Amino acid sequence: MIEIRKEQKSDYEEVYNVVKTAFEKAKESDGNEQDLVVALRKSSNFIPELSLVAKKDNKIVGYILFTKIQIGKFEELALAPLAVLPEYQRQGVGSKLIEEGHKIAKEMGYHYVVVLGSDKYYPKFGYEKASKYGIKPPFDVPDENFMVIKLNDLRKGIKGTVKYAKEFGI
Ligand SMILES: CC(C)(COP(=O)(O)OP(=O)(O)OC[C@H]1O[C@@H](n2cnc3c(N)ncnc32)[C@H](O)[C@@H]1OP(=O)(O)O)[C@@H](O)C(=O)NCCC(=O)NCCS
Repeated sequence: MIEIRKEQKSDYEEVYNVVKTAFEKAKESDGNEQDLVVALRKSSNFIPELSLVAKKDNKIVGYILFTKIQIGKFEELALAPLAVLPEYQRQGVGSKLIEEGHKIAKEMGYHYVVVLGSDKYYPKFGYEKASKYGIKPPFDVPDENFMVIKLNDLRKGIKGTVKYAKEFGI
């Protein structure tokens, strides 16, 4: 069984290794995702409730983080990173982390989550091209890889260029 829960301080070392190991095998990686997580935890854009671990077989096998961003003048969220240990991939761990994260984000009153990632993966969870909503990345990237999910209809007309936490170095 997979358990999803909020990350605790005592998880930091295990999470570091999960992120590092997951991205070692990833196609799109700068090799620094684990250090980005360390930096983001100290950022004012960090939201402890949206730093989640997946536990299976009594160990951490997956991790997801959503941090605050600006879209135009509105505060919303970015999903990054998402990591699952190679031997636990394709077992629904990533899906569970995303779904639980979306649920908490909605409860916290957020409306949009942006993600830079695979257009083969994220559309399964409701992500669409961000350009459809006039939401733009602050970097050059193929249109299909910068995506957004609308969690609810409570805030209409959000658009503009995304501003990430400075820790992303963008
Ligand atoms: C991407 C990642 C988080 C997916 O986690 P996961 O636990 O394997 O995902 P799930 O088992 O929940 O998969 C959900 C669906 O996506 C598909 N899928 C999984 N990995 C995929 C991939 N790399 N590309 C395309 N589809 C993928 C699965 O087949 C599944 O679909 P299905 O149920 O219709 O068959 C994991 O592969 C990973 O950690 N990769 C390395 C780090 C990385 O690239 N992170 C993403 C950064 S944007």
